[in-house]
Amino acid sequence: MASGETAVSSCKNRGMMRLFNHFQTSLDSKVVVALTGLGLAGFVVFHMLGNLQVFEGAEALNSYAAFLRDMPILLWTTRLGLLSIVALHIGLAIQLTLHNRRARPVAYAVREYRKASLASRTMAVTGSVLLLFIVFHLLHLTAGVVDTSFPDRLDLQGHRDVYGKVVHAFRNPLFVALYLAGQFVLGLHLSHAVSSSLQTLGFEHAALNRLFKAAGPVIALLVVLGNMAIILAVFLGVVRT
Ligand code: HEM
Repeated sequence: MASGETAVSSCKNRGMMRLFNHFQTSLDSKVVVALTGLGLAGFVVFHMLGNLQVFEGAEALNSYAAFLRDMPILLWTTRLGLLSIVALHIGLAIQLTLHNRRARPVAYAVREYRKASLASRTMAVTGSVLLLFIVFHLLHLTAGVVDTSFPDRLDLQGHRDVYGKVVHAFRNPLFVALYLAGQFVLGLHLSHAVSSSLQTLGFEHAALNRLFKAAGPVIALLVVLGNMAIILAVFLGVVRT
């Protein structure tokens, strides 16, 4: 009897340990997804603020782009850092999504689905579309292989003419439509991601809860409005060469 009880209790302990490890692993993954997500959100804000220099004219934007490119160590450290963060973020986010789907009973999933916002329900879809948008964007404005009708050229100061490239891109209604669609997806993804990351990292506090919940939508709106201002200002001829 006593040895039977010991066996049952050790089985329970092993079960508890496995359950604990299971939650511990998924909590660690959630923290890394949150940290990498906030890092990427920081890049998107920084990138939008830098690009707003298009409103100051060619010299300002081209000098800024040259400043970023003229320090190869900084440029490649940032690029490799971003690439690793993106890979870690996507890999762990996929793992967590699959893990949650397997662990969650159907009834709970249905109940939560009703309460959840559109942004939170569509994170996997918006994340995947965002990845496609970023690959397209790099092939378009960084590598210049999507549109070869604007060859790389230098401005009067001898800097790469990034301003000319941006203006050329957003005069084309097809690129305007693709980039505006990208902004819609980016906005949805960011609005849930930032709030949820802040909560995962334990910044949830009764008094600050509403502020953190609002942080995601507010940051997403500012980024989307900033990017849309660039796209539409060029398309409508406010910014021109
Ligand atoms: C209207 C919106 C945007 C504009 C006008 C824009 C503009 C540009 C330009 C001109 C470059 C090339 C810079 C150069 O060759 O020196 C670039 C690179 C890049 N953009 Fe954007 N961008 C926009 C939105 C975004 C968004 C939403 C993301 C990410 C979600 C993004 C991520 C990147 C990345 C990762 C690079 C590569 C940086 C590097 O050279 O290492 N961009 N962007």
